[in-house]
Amino acid sequence: MSSDSLASMSEVPVAGAEPIAPARSPGATVRVGVIGYGYWGPNIVRNLHGLEHCQVVSVCDKNPSALKRAQKSYPGVQVTTDFSEVLQSPDIDAVAIVTPVWTHFELAKAALENGKHVFVEKPFTATSQQAEELIELADRKNLRIMVDHTFLFSGAVRKIRELVDDGTLGPLYYYDSTRVNLGLFQHDVSVLWDLAPHDLSIMDYLIVEKPEAVVATGSNHLNHLADMAFITVYFPSNVIAHFNVNWLSPVKVRNTLIGGRDKMLVWNDLDPDEKIKVYDKGVKITKAEGVYDLLVSYRSGDVWGPKVDSTEALKVELEYFIQCIVDGKTPVNDGAAGLRVVRLLEAAEQSLQARGQLVRL
Ligand SMILES: NC(=O)c1ccc[n+]([C@@H]2O[C@H](COP(=O)([O-])OP(=O)(O)OC[C@H]3O[C@@H](n4cnc5c(N)ncnc54)[C@H](O)[C@@H]3O)[C@@H](O)[C@H]2O)c1
Repeated sequence: MSSDSLASMSEVPVAGAEPIAPARSPGATVRVGVIGYGYWGPNIVRNLHGLEHCQVVSVCDKNPSALKRAQKSYPGVQVTTDFSEVLQSPDIDAVAIVTPVWTHFELAKAALENGKHVFVEKPFTATSQQAEELIELADRKNLRIMVDHTFLFSGAVRKIRELVDDGTLGPLYYYDSTRVNLGLFQHDVSVLWDLAPHDLSIMDYLIVEKPEAVVATGSNHLNHLADMAFITVYFPSNVIAHFNVNWLSPVKVRNTLIGGRDKMLVWNDLDPDEKIKVYDKGVKITKAEGVYDLLVSYRSGDVWGPKVDSTEALKVELEYFIQCIVDGKTPVNDGAAGLRVVRLLEAAEQSLQARGQLVRL
């Protein structure tokens, strides 16, 4: 990550982001152990490996063939099938947990108890109670937790945040995202817990207001876990957010519409060149004396495509993680951010089970 992008992440106002005692002296190397080298783990190791102030000391996976792959790519890195070797090693400062959701809590708890900073995959934990316990433990031990909300570090989301913050869009009306494709079916979590954490974390990052209620519907067709879900999040103001996540779509779609009073934008994450388009479009009510007298005028102005940084989001995020450890700073995607997403997932799950009943947060 360039120092520019690091600066822009550090400038994001976060409650409680004031420096705590630095864990490492400036310029020191943070030594990391990675647990889980399945689908996502290799991306974590590759990005950590390329960072200046970071050393991947050890990779752990209970599957020996995963370790063979790790050893082939990184001959200098120790490998083990026993996670306690990583958690108890005096040569490791931080642990990245890249294992299935149901293992996050036990592994993160043991890492914190052993004095390690923790980078943990989304969703943070399987329950909000587990998340609360980890946050309390990390606070008590003065350790950092970062939850892998990868998209917050993408050029597109950082640009959208800028457009929200500088008032380009005006007051927000809605956030509406579609994240659908065929598979990858997970055997332990539903599409809600697998895909929606991405969108809920982005929503949480862009809309500062606290949501008040959730409605979700969905269905399962192949096993007992929902493979499609439609989630609506209500805010006390007029902002509304909607998410469509689906593993049974014949095509891959990654589209988000964000409507504001002054401008509207479309973010197509699959477009390699113009990920974001901002539309100077809107609606104005010019007369509202009675419902039949409404005069609606439509504004249709220019469309522009802002420049979006193409640095790999995970690289930006992991460099920020290392920097937060060195500086003793609380990351924007800390345990509290992870907990907010888990609370939304729990509420959505409850609503989905009750066929769309409103669940208050
Ligand atoms: N941020 C993202 O964009 C993103 C993308 C994909 C997956 N993920 C998250 O990453 C996590 C892992 O997902 P995945 O798709 O890589 O799963 P996976 O099943 O492909 O890999 C998990 C690996 O962890 C290993 N493992 C499980 N328990 C272990 C233990 N106790 N000790 C050592 N190794 C253990 C397994 O052997 C496996 O190799 C999940 O939380 C998922 O939500 C995040």
